[in-house]
Amino acid sequence: CGIVGYIGQKEASRIILEGLEKLEYRGYDSSGMATVHQNSLLTRKFKGRLTELIQNIDEKPLFGQTGIGHTRWATHGEPSDINSHPHTNNQNTLAVVHNGIIENYLPLKNDLIEEGYTFVSETDTEVISHLIDYYYTGDLLSAVQAATQRLKGAYALAITSSLHPDELIAVRYESPLILGIGEDEYYIASDIPAFLSRTRKVIYLENGDTVRLTNEGYEIFDSSHLIAHRDIQEVKWDVDSATKEGYDHFMLKEIYQQPEAVRNTLNRRLDENGEVYLEGVHLTKEMIESFNKIYIVACGTAYHAGLIGKSVLEKALKITVIADVASEFRYNDNLIDEQTLVIVVSQSGETADTLASLREAKAKGARILSITNVVGSAVARESDDLLYTWAGPEIAVASTKAYTTQLIAFYMLALYFGKLKGSLDAHSYKEHVIELQSIDDSIEDTISQSMEIAKEIAEEIKEAPSLFYLGRGLDYYTALEASLKLKELSYIHAEAFAAGELKHGTIALIEEGTPVITLATQDDIYEKTVSNIKSVKARGAYAIGITTHKHKDMEQVCDKVIYINTTTSTYMPLISVILTQLIAYYTSIAKGNDVDKPRNLAKSVTVE
Ligand code: G6P
Repeated sequence: CGIVGYIGQKEASRIILEGLEKLEYRGYDSSGMATVHQNSLLTRKFKGRLTELIQNIDEKPLFGQTGIGHTRWATHGEPSDINSHPHTNNQNTLAVVHNGIIENYLPLKNDLIEEGYTFVSETDTEVISHLIDYYYTGDLLSAVQAATQRLKGAYALAITSSLHPDELIAVRYESPLILGIGEDEYYIASDIPAFLSRTRKVIYLENGDTVRLTNEGYEIFDSSHLIAHRDIQEVKWDVDSATKEGYDHFMLKEIYQQPEAVRNTLNRRLDENGEVYLEGVHLTKEMIESFNKIYIVACGTAYHAGLIGKSVLEKALKITVIADVASEFRYNDNLIDEQTLVIVVSQSGETADTLASLREAKAKGARILSITNVVGSAVARESDDLLYTWAGPEIAVASTKAYTTQLIAFYMLALYFGKLKGSLDAHSYKEHVIELQSIDDSIEDTISQSMEIAKEIAEEIKEAPSLFYLGRGLDYYTALEASLKLKELSYIHAEAFAAGELKHGTIALIEEGTPVITLATQDDIYEKTVSNIKSVKARGAYAIGITTHKHKDMEQVCDKVIYINTTTSTYMPLISVILTQLIAYYTSIAKGNDVDKPRNLAKSVTVE
């Protein structure tokens, strides 16, 4: 989500709308604003794109020189007018906008209901407005400070109150928040582009900071509520690169966001004992035992995540799991019945073929579980069980963080179902959870370690007419995703093959110098993969191997070997895919292509 706040002499609503337009990349399923005018609080909020709010304010202006605004990307509570921010207290004297997640909102909500507060929305944010009200005894700042001490999770907040028309309070904890300094006017925003056309003087608030803004100035308090000094900095970038937070492209920014996205998807579903709990999944032990098979249905990158899902679910549950592309599945004579679980995977939750498959399966009586990134999307609304990926909005057409978080979702499902069904013993369950908990750091290291080598590979392959990715088992599924990414971004003909299948025809395509990139991260089939490399090498291929540090012998069969971080074989796809994303990214750049908007492609395909 994106938040904006303004206090000064100008009409706040115009400035806030301008800011929200620049923050739409952070979320765009609903938006809202609150201003304080003549001692009353005025709020407008709507589901849908920001244009809804703009139109409304154009028709009926919102007056006031203090205000806050929000553009939403739903996490708790689907997009609706009521769930949109700002959220107010019951007396309608204060309004809050929030970016982040309040992890302990349920117990807080229950406490507040007992205290007599009435909730109107399904959001986690609404607890904040009531909690501030609860602590309010005349001073807004101390009420906010008392309330935030009770919050667990992540939050950037901006608060305005009709009882304090000349004041605006903002808080930053684990979600970004920046203070903009103008001439007798101040801005607060999730990101610099929101006010960059008005001021270049900014303060990056630190974790735990609370700031009190008035027309005359600002005061910053640290997490111990002591006055703090923060340096003012001068922003040198333009709006466009600021939206990308200094990255050249959204894709690169999203590659870098993966450790955090993975952390969000994972940690918020692990309790203090390391037990997986899946809020939106209502399947019981009996139901899981009653399934005779599982189908995983999706398109594109989501389908590739589904293939990994197939492998881990089959292992954990010991039942047949079939992964299929949605455009085929919907027209096939599938043996789907009440004993079938259909898992639908979709970043957008709106892909036409995926949605049609969901409906087809549902009509045949299947139980539908969906993995999606968009709260309240069509796929989410029509499913029985839900697992959100919480990757945040993905802007680049080529999917990266959606894919890795989809993998996390599958890994968590496998653990959860395996435990419930009893097919996974407590010891290995624990080991898996521990391994997963350190994967974000490993992804982070992999990104920084892969930069230079990915650029080098890009230079080597950029003129190639054709390229092959090979792998066995999970590596084959990663190879499929790696070659799709390379195709979409570089326009080089790239194919993935199960390494052992190549000899049955495709090996005829290998010529002198054809690049063949082989993923060999699965220890149990490592030797087999190496012999496949030998056979392409013998036909003249330029062989690049991707493996873990213990397999130094790969240097004897490959022209070039790239070593990547090691984790349990099951989780290697989370590591190896990072390198292949970067290879695709840099090859696209080397060829001068439009990285974020490759030709002929759309982010979300809502036609057949
Ligand atoms: C489009 C995108 C792909 C994406 C696929 C499925 O083709 O270009 O990147 O993987 O749709 O999208 P979904 O939103 O259903 O995951």
